[in-house]
Amino acid sequence: MIILGIETSCDETGIALVEAIGGLKNPRFRVLKSLVASQIKIHAPYGGVVPNLAKREHAQNLPILFKGLGNGVSKFDVIAVTVGPGLEPCLWEGINFAQSLAKEPKKPIVAVNHMEGHIVSVFLSGKNIDVQFPALALLVSGGHTELVLIKGWLNYKIIGETLDDAVGEAFDKVARLLGLPYPGGPSLSKLADTLTGHAMSSQIKLPRPMLNSKDLNFSFSGLKTAVLYVLRDNPKINKAALAKEFQNAAVEVLVSKTLKAIEKFKPKTLIVAGGVAANKYLRKELIKTLNARRLPFKTFFPEKSFTGDNAAMIAAAGYFHALKRDFSKPSKLKASGRLSLG
Ligand code: KG4
Ligand code: ZN
Repeated sequence: MIILGIETSCDETGIALVEAIGGLKNPRFRVLKSLVASQIKIHAPYGGVVPNLAKREHAQNLPILFKGLGNGVSKFDVIAVTVGPGLEPCLWEGINFAQSLAKEPKKPIVAVNHMEGHIVSVFLSGKNIDVQFPALALLVSGGHTELVLIKGWLNYKIIGETLDDAVGEAFDKVARLLGLPYPGGPSLSKLADTLTGHAMSSQIKLPRPMLNSKDLNFSFSGLKTAVLYVLRDNPKINKAALAKEFQNAAVEVLVSKTLKAIEKFKPKTLIVAGGVAANKYLRKELIKTLNARRLPFKTFFPEKSFTGDNAAMIAAAGYFHALKRDFSKPSKLKASGRLSLG
């Protein structure tokens, strides 16, 4: 089956063609083409995504990217479009585009949850990824921080989530406080990684919010405020050391809650996905911690090029919907900014 994916939930316009085989038991994917038009330069002067500008860019970019698919343009069986969560004006651009494509010749449409797309992004490496159920996903992005229990494809349950800011949002806000360029996550981690050893950052101590809470929830806004106070009280502080301590604190909480979820739900596979899954220190610490416990399961991360928002992951998620014949009537599609998994 060849699936055309459309992604416009935030500030990246994505169109992709993905070939899928193997069914629900042994799904395998080949990315035929994945095009992403990034809007970083447009939003950078504002230090964050401006919804109306993003909507305008999506409207402009979608037909251009679609043409960019070249010969593959008409050779797809299903259209998969992100319907939420995200910025509603942006989601509607993708939905309208999907509706127009589904008309002539008629093609079926499946509605995809953006976070589900992040989960299945681990399949896009082309390697043999054998996800076994129950699986656990740690989803870390600019809008979400969630632990999701996956009992089977399309069967998701959120077992932990952030009570305030998402971890990517915290990276972005702290980066801004440190005067780093937008988007903040990659620049902050780059600065933090310039420091080796713990000497400098160990002199600064930031809180680990909710580290010892009994549940699997997170909170990152207090951590950001703590950075604000440290900067206010020590204007000459070494910024790389502060960035490193922030990254240490955020990652320590993510790793600890993931471990807690593993102990409680005993999954057979761990998936770590979303923009922040690109963070090298998070990957290193998770693998180190899991190896030390000799836990009997496999951990999968997406390839770096598929950690951020893209349409190939939406197409891949669309495969599962199509297999389960979970089609949507084009006229009934609706953007749902706060759509939740499960
Ligand atoms: O999944 P994503 O591309 O978009 C959303 O669905 O939100 O995630 C974007 C988030 C941003 O907050 C960005 O700063 C963060 O992922 N991010 C990182 C890194 N690369 C991207 N955060 C920490 N370290 C990174 N290397
Ligand atoms: Zn995302």
